[in-house]
Amino acid sequence: MFAVSVLRTKPIKDVIAQSSAEGDDNRRLRRRLGPFDLMGFGVGIVIGTGIFTLTGLEARDSAGPAVIVSFAVAGVVALLAALCYAELAASVPTAGSAYTYAYATMGEVVAWIIGWDLLLEFALGAAVVARGWSGYLAELFGLPTAWFGEEGSVVNVGAIAIVLLLGVVATIGIQQSARITNVLVVVKVAICIFVVVAGLFFISAANLTPFVPPAEAPPGGESGLTQPLTQVLFGLEPSVFGIAGVLSAAAVVFFAYTGFEAVANLGEETRRPGRDLPLGVLGTLAVSAVLYIGVSFVIVGMVPYTEIDRGAPIAAAFNAVGAGWAAVLVSIAAVSGLTSVILVQLVAMGRIGYAIARDGLIPTGIGAIHPRWGTPYRVTIAMTVLVAVLAGFLPLSALADLVSIGALFAFVIVSIAVPLVRRSRPDLKRPFRVPFSPVLPIVSALACVYLMLNLSVETWLRFLAWLLLGGLIYVGYGRRRNRLARQEH
Ligand code: ALA
Repeated sequence: MFAVSVLRTKPIKDVIAQSSAEGDDNRRLRRRLGPFDLMGFGVGIVIGTGIFTLTGLEARDSAGPAVIVSFAVAGVVALLAALCYAELAASVPTAGSAYTYAYATMGEVVAWIIGWDLLLEFALGAAVVARGWSGYLAELFGLPTAWFGEEGSVVNVGAIAIVLLLGVVATIGIQQSARITNVLVVVKVAICIFVVVAGLFFISAANLTPFVPPAEAPPGGESGLTQPLTQVLFGLEPSVFGIAGVLSAAAVVFFAYTGFEAVANLGEETRRPGRDLPLGVLGTLAVSAVLYIGVSFVIVGMVPYTEIDRGAPIAAAFNAVGAGWAAVLVSIAAVSGLTSVILVQLVAMGRIGYAIARDGLIPTGIGAIHPRWGTPYRVTIAMTVLVAVLAGFLPLSALADLVSIGALFAFVIVSIAVPLVRRSRPDLKRPFRVPFSPVLPIVSALACVYLMLNLSVETWLRFLAWLLLGGLIYVGYGRRRNRLARQEH
């Protein structure tokens, strides 16, 4: 009985009915988007702190110049997962996220896990980008890193302030106009291209050797908690750098590719989803991967990896080679480009919370829509406060690790789902099909699990604590009180 109830699925006709009831909001965009619109949107959300800040942290602390390889590895894994995501997204035509596809195809408990996990991903994603934003603000105005950066950070007031400000914007529903969004996307891509082209003039080959710094003991007697889980599982000596360091950096910089899922969520607004969705998702990833590999190459080429700045590595690298004007340019672009990423993440977080509450898996009142603002204001406000606190006190890399593990976990489920749903729901129309199923989805799931294992023990513990909390809420509330359960009664 328990198994049957937790595996109940939401009929696809209900999913579609619900999304068309909300369709009024979406009407503007209805079936108007083509592959290039999707790519513009995707690049707008995907390119953020991952490349602007994490690159420096991971080069300095974990991979050395080989962080370039880490970006390539993470890009390949993201690509595999994206193919699987695109099949599900195109076959359940709704504006919902992986949470909604899971509810329609794999059952309630899986949907709950994914929804709970996505909430973490978007909330913490906003926190990470806010800290990156703050680091570039500090670089631009010479503010103290204790309050705005990563080095010797006490409380990151810059990150707290921007989260609260944009939380208000998300709550009262001021949407960024499409035009501003497009300008910011162009600014971000242009600045990445500028960094690569201008940076090439300042590269010194000496900085690229050793390309993979030899493994060494972690600095300052760090405890086993900060070691990748693989090292603990296989009883290896704790170490940083070396091949293991490159792989653990790949798991962390996976963060840089997260967000492309939002492209898949536009299925309902796309002219030819079967063709355009995969093109949009894969195009977004391809553009990001090329830019990431190029930018990380010039950063590690310009500055010895041991001296890379932790808060605003790209701008600091230009400062270090005496091109202060370029540093200013990069900082302005980063501060403006990252602002829109934070906003999109906060809005996405509210929508996930709303979708879960609408299904009654958390109390429906939490997802209430404000009569005037038209936004799920309660969940947005509550989560914004949480995000602000986390962004203020937790280091950027710890937060990014959690986003990576959350996203990777969702992709494991999504990958496994592809062959399973083909079996259980052969009737679904699939405008896009992953090639070589089940081989490709299985490889995708294994690759995601492998990257997860390369994240630190403390990241695993934090993630498990989040899932445990989610489990308690489900067992204590959602399982019996949700809409489908009540209908069954
Ligand atoms: N992928 C986004 C970033 O790198 C979230 O900031």
